[in-house]
Amino acid sequence: MSSKEESKKKVSKKSDRAIDSSSPAEKMVHEQLGLYLYPEKEKKASTLEVKKSDHPKVSKFNDIDLNKWKEYGDIITDSLWLIGSRDRSGMHTAELHGNFIPQIPHQAMLRYTKQGEIVLDTFLGSGTTLIECKRLGRHGIGIELLPNLVKRSQELINKETNPYNVVTKVVEGNSCLPETTQKVKRLPQEEYKKEKVQLIIMHPPYHDIIKFSKDEKDLSKAKNTKEFLTMFSEVVDNATPYLEKGRYFALVIEDKYSKGEWIPLGFCCMQEVLKRNYLLKSIIVKNFEETRGKRNQKELWRYRALVGGFYKEKSICLN
Ligand SMILES: C[S@@+](CC[C@H](N)C(=O)[O-])C[C@H]1O[C@@H](n2cnc3c(N)ncnc32)[C@H](O)[C@@H]1O
Repeated sequence: MSSKEESKKKVSKKSDRAIDSSSPAEKMVHEQLGLYLYPEKEKKASTLEVKKSDHPKVSKFNDIDLNKWKEYGDIITDSLWLIGSRDRSGMHTAELHGNFIPQIPHQAMLRYTKQGEIVLDTFLGSGTTLIECKRLGRHGIGIELLPNLVKRSQELINKETNPYNVVTKVVEGNSCLPETTQKVKRLPQEEYKKEKVQLIIMHPPYHDIIKFSKDEKDLSKAKNTKEFLTMFSEVVDNATPYLEKGRYFALVIEDKYSKGEWIPLGFCCMQEVLKRNYLLKSIIVKNFEETRGKRNQKELWRYRALVGGFYKEKSICLN
């Protein structure tokens, strides 16, 4: 065995040990965030477990005490996220084909909000963002077009425990319309005594990869990429005035491959956001092996990629 192989073996043994001996919080870090790929000597805590120093050094957009930056074991700072398994704890479920893994809003909120601040999700789906809001002590507003999903997300969110006593609101409506965001506008003031929200998360349909409904207002019904981008831009235009200046917008989207051509939906949507005076802070590529739509199709996609001369897609999250 070469010394390279030996050291590889040592690393994998070390990672296995780390998983076996860990607490539930550390298990989450290791298994769901893929951080076991980078084993550390010292034990690290999850963000909610880290006790602040006497004179904490914190930025204006999160609660991370920079005096203790080495202790935050669950915060990812790399732009390649290798996520092993979906967080299925609490009311998180994979029942909606096309919902995102809870680790995405989890990371975004820990990095870009403080406890007690407000998160707006304009494509709520089954409510993942607001469930995560309750867990992390952030207020949440979610907009969803489809009445059945409004009902289901509300059920799941209500069943999640609320240890930080936050307020979560689900609004039924079309995020492309200013009337919908007008409804949302009142919420920060009425419910939270704040003028604006501090984080926007958007996880739109990946155009027509998954058709969520037959409703013409649904972005997944857009006739072509141009129409999809127009609808997406309307949502960005409507939501932007409610975001506090200097705060973050997280866009989560996948590209698509159709009729022999790669359609870079992620970059197209990113351009629409950047046209509206946002500053690009990161592009994150996420790999998640358990994706429901492709779980049993991994081999098929490999074959398609070989035949079509393209590379299989991985999700892109942009901040
Ligand atoms: C990719 S899913 C979001 C899933 C969500 N992140 C979750 O974890 O459950 C996109 C959602 O956007 C909704 N949607 C599509 N067009 C919309 C519109 N014009 N206004 C509001 N919601 C819309 C769809 O019904 C679908 O639930």
